[in-house]
Amino acid sequence: MTGPLMIPLPGNEAQAAAIAQEGGWDEGRLDTRRFPDGETYLRVLSEVKDREVALVCTLVHPDDAALRLLFAADAIRSLGAREVTLVAPYLAYMRQDRRFHEGEAVTSLTFARLLSGAFDRLVTVDPHLHRHPSLALLYSIPATALHAASLMAEWIRAEVPYPLLIGPDEESSQWVSDIAGRIGAPWTTFRKERRGDRSVDLTPPDLSAWTGHQPVLVDDIASSGRTLVKAASLLPLLGFPPPVCVVVHPIFADASFRDLAAVTSRVVSTDAIEHPSNAIPLAPLIAAHLASLSRTA
Ligand code: R5P
Repeated sequence: MTGPLMIPLPGNEAQAAAIAQEGGWDEGRLDTRRFPDGETYLRVLSEVKDREVALVCTLVHPDDAALRLLFAADAIRSLGAREVTLVAPYLAYMRQDRRFHEGEAVTSLTFARLLSGAFDRLVTVDPHLHRHPSLALLYSIPATALHAASLMAEWIRAEVPYPLLIGPDEESSQWVSDIAGRIGAPWTTFRKERRGDRSVDLTPPDLSAWTGHQPVLVDDIASSGRTLVKAASLLPLLGFPPPVCVVVHPIFADASFRDLAAVTSRVVSTDAIEHPSNAIPLAPLIAAHLASLSRTA
């Protein structure tokens, strides 16, 4: 069977199995654990020589995952794999993409350099591209940003009557407009001013033309959750029912998922990150892309 051998890093077994099943590909295995001193032990248990290998690792806790991921990629390369691809449904370190204050580390660039040195190719889903409009400006390896818009649009079309799509900030207009266009729904965005890691101010536009619609908040990332909680709390004050929330990357730090559930009618996400809100599987999207790479190789 042509196509990559899918190998999950710990915690990514379900996603790797789903992608492998979609593509009809083999699944491989690693053994990894921590030594008593905290260092990582890692062993590749599958034959990788002369094979295309895809390591599946969503990067939700990147500082914990990254070193093990680099060890795995290096081991697989040294065991003779033909190509090593990183499939990271969530790609971390995309927001500190410039020096906002004197002396800050531009971690987007450093992280991209590390991954570009270890892998031949990167496949991810809706990375937070804002000031850098393309992954090619950060990554020196072929890097593909897949888009969950069509899957999110299908979910909204099937589940939400009369939707009004709302992005909580102007950056989100790129994916909100795309999803809205696919289902012929109206859309708009709030204006956001970030005050700190866990504090945002939002200003809504005039929504009166869409009274009677069901608001659907759409965002790429729920991290501290403050953006969506603030947006959801404003909508009833403007005469709308509690919104539905649809996010690509459900990080939901601390108690933010509980806080958001309290002010919304439903919260759903893609399975880029495993979370109780997962309702939109990404395996078909990722497998279709990997299959297209194998056909053109
Ligand atoms: C904006 O920068 C992103 O699109 C998200 O809105 C943001 O990352 C959400 O962050 P938080 O959940 O911490 O408010």
